[in-house]
Amino acid sequence: MKHLLKMLDLTKEEIIGLLDLADKLKYENKNGIQHHILKGKTLGMIFQKSSTRTRVSFETGMYQLGGYPLFLSSNDLQIGRGEPVQDTARVLSRYLDGVMIRTFEQQEVEDFAKYGSIPVINALTDFAHPCQVLADLMTIREHKGGFDGLKVCYVGDGNNMANSLIAGCLKVGMEFAIACPKAYQPPKEILDFAAQYGDKFTMTESPAEAAKNADVLITDVWASMGQEQEKLEREKHFKGYQINDELMAVAKADAMVLHCLPAHREEEITAKVFEEHANEIFDEAENRLHAQKAVLVTLMKD
Ligand code: CP
Ligand code: NVA
Repeated sequence: MKHLLKMLDLTKEEIIGLLDLADKLKYENKNGIQHHILKGKTLGMIFQKSSTRTRVSFETGMYQLGGYPLFLSSNDLQIGRGEPVQDTARVLSRYLDGVMIRTFEQQEVEDFAKYGSIPVINALTDFAHPCQVLADLMTIREHKGGFDGLKVCYVGDGNNMANSLIAGCLKVGMEFAIACPKAYQPPKEILDFAAQYGDKFTMTESPAEAAKNADVLITDVWASMGQEQEKLEREKHFKGYQINDELMAVAKADAMVLHCLPAHREEEITAKVFEEHANEIFDEAENRLHAQKAVLVTLMKD
């Protein structure tokens, strides 16, 4: 594994290997055991969109591993003034040992990996959010004890989270059902990938149908970063695509709920369901730290 650009690129063995390492790093972190595995290494962190969890968990993770995290806002970089990614990648590869990028176009992280010579981590594009989904898989395994026989239901936009969850959950062997409005289905590349899994993947416009007997319910915002101008239009289409008591009633009695956050209460999830499952949701947020440390170690250690 040279980069983490999207879940589609990883094998099942690579995913499980990262999750096993993340569990070990979490255990060590909880027990005060520190390894400065990345001593002397610098991670560049390029942000073209806002972030709370991603920025803080990557910075903290690099510090805990003995390395240095360098926050680079695109407002301050020449890339924000149009310097090509091909040049930025070749320059930054001369200084850094790894780079983490949050941007709009998936092509930008793919190009960075192609033209640069250091590991590239996708920290969210419009197409994918692999770091989040590694944390989600870690949290599911932690709470459910494994993946075998589990059904995951995702309700909402066929966006970066849906794309990455579909790839990650199917690869590790879970069943996946997505409920989304017709105009907001995941892209063809993802649907073609999912088609290989036969009836382990289903897509419907009905949240209740997708949630039936689900072990895990997941949702995300109706309008992602960069789609703020579509907010009103999206509210019309996504009304009813919500994790609420009615939906929980058709899922398994012990179903867990995940949300990558930030959450919009009373839009994609009710405040009541959110608070009833806050333990799972904040374990998921915490696991960003441990899962990303596993990614950093795997990609950047000598
Ligand atoms: N879930 C997530 O990526 O959160 P941030 O946007 O706060 O980084
Ligand atoms: N789909 C959301 C995820 C945020 C972590 C967005 O792209 O804004």
